[in-house]
Amino acid sequence: MIRRDFLKSIGTIAAGTALSGPLLHAAPSLPGLLPDGDVHSLNDLTLPIRPLRPETDRQVSVIIIGAGNRGNVYADFARKFPEQVKVVGVSDILEHRKLRMAGQHNIPEENRFGDWSEVFTRPKFADAVVISTPDNLHYKPCMKALAMGYDVLLEKPVAQTAQECKALGAQARKYGRILAVCHVLRYAPYFLALRETVRSGAIGKLVSLQHLEPIEYAHMAHSYVRGNWRSSKETTPIILAKSCHDLDIMRWIVDAPCKTISADGSLMLFKPENAPAGATRKCTDGCPHESTCPYSALDIYTRRKQHLGVFDLDGNRDAKFIEQRLHTPPYDSYARCVYYCDNDQPDHYVTEMVFEGGVTASFSMEAFTPWGGRRTRLMGTKGYIEGNGSQFTLREFRTGKKAVWDKKVSDIAEYRGAGHGGGDHALVRDFIEAVAAQDASRLSSTIDVSIESHLMGFAAERSRKSGRKEKV
Ligand SMILES: NC(=O)c1ccc[n+]([C@@H]2O[C@H](COP(=O)([O-])OP(=O)(O)OC[C@H]3O[C@@H](n4cnc5c(N)ncnc54)[C@H](O)[C@@H]3O)[C@@H](O)[C@H]2O)c1
Repeated sequence: MIRRDFLKSIGTIAAGTALSGPLLHAAPSLPGLLPDGDVHSLNDLTLPIRPLRPETDRQVSVIIIGAGNRGNVYADFARKFPEQVKVVGVSDILEHRKLRMAGQHNIPEENRFGDWSEVFTRPKFADAVVISTPDNLHYKPCMKALAMGYDVLLEKPVAQTAQECKALGAQARKYGRILAVCHVLRYAPYFLALRETVRSGAIGKLVSLQHLEPIEYAHMAHSYVRGNWRSSKETTPIILAKSCHDLDIMRWIVDAPCKTISADGSLMLFKPENAPAGATRKCTDGCPHESTCPYSALDIYTRRKQHLGVFDLDGNRDAKFIEQRLHTPPYDSYARCVYYCDNDQPDHYVTEMVFEGGVTASFSMEAFTPWGGRRTRLMGTKGYIEGNGSQFTLREFRTGKKAVWDKKVSDIAEYRGAGHGGGDHALVRDFIEAVAAQDASRLSSTIDVSIESHLMGFAAERSRKSGRKEKV
């Protein structure tokens, strides 16, 4: 069956929508997800994907504040497209990170800073700043940068309270600056395809959705028990720290503001009373449970070699070298027993939302899964979509026909090599173009909508604590 006939059979897709294009071709069925049958491919969907090279006739200069994991992702974009972007300044309190980035980008001595505040002791010397410091160091540098006339690419979560989020939006308006939030999933082909399929009317009217963020047990232990986001007070509640992307994606797919939200959840496992008898404070102290504990630091880092980005290994993945790091401050905090960390983030969190127009959503964030990769189910009046973060299946009620989107990011030439399903660099491209043209409409999201998804998170956290349904 050709694509046109299939779509006609669905009966809902107007000519010229995103689903127009060449013929459908047979696609492999998803084992175990749906029974075998007549399966079509949606891989030819027309998506708003463009080459990553920014379309600009001038070079945009940026200062990176926070030369860690994310800062390097964004700075790498400048190495890829040096004619369009130049990193002219760097700030990081860790000397070796500052020097590494300074060396990679030939940043002059006078433009290398320690604490973020030092950047702003100098008159404005670049077009924009990228703020990729820890969560508790977003608000102040961003307020200052906007006041000094910089455009800003700001990591999420943008701030630690709802009031601060609103103040950031107001500051951008007051100084007429571009403020972009790193909602990178909006650029990932999978989510673009999911959204375009819903917008095409292929499942009729969207009525409800279920979304699952499986954190994966080792990732939970690494980031939200031992690591940087373990304290909700020092960073942000996990619903923002981990899931503000998800809240944004849900709002983006539903395409309407969220009206109310209610939440529940708690920290069930990672606390001292659950430590097995005789557990040592660090996995590296000869703990009797090391060989059986799923959260063993030695197992996660030295054997399975996961989450190594925090150890500044500079490419050396030798197990002995990693183990040495686990004995050396500040890296030894990652050797801590998961039951004896100063953590308070919930390990299971469920929410229920109602959007304007009546669409409902349930969202779960779960630590105890063997895999990551967001799962989504979308229920429409004429069909249903089920996806696992890299492929999704559309099922049409009347005919029982199935269509699958399972395009690999590696097959999308424009996005090859970029993280977050290509989203990381597509986001920077749009930001650079927006700055060069001084036109915020080139961004995928307005600052007000980005802030809205943060307000959903803060409302969820209020609800989790109060037991009441909260207005957003
Ligand atoms: N958009 C996404 O998908 C995504 C993914 C992961 C993390 N994040 C967010 O990005 C931000 C950075 O995360 P990361 O994983 O890169 O963390 P990171 O720890 O790797 O990097 C943060 C850097 O900021 C530096 N820093 C700390 N205090 C500073 C100060 N006072 N002045 C200047 N620099 C300072 C640190 O030394 C570190 O190098 C966080 O807010 C995080 O939540 C976003």
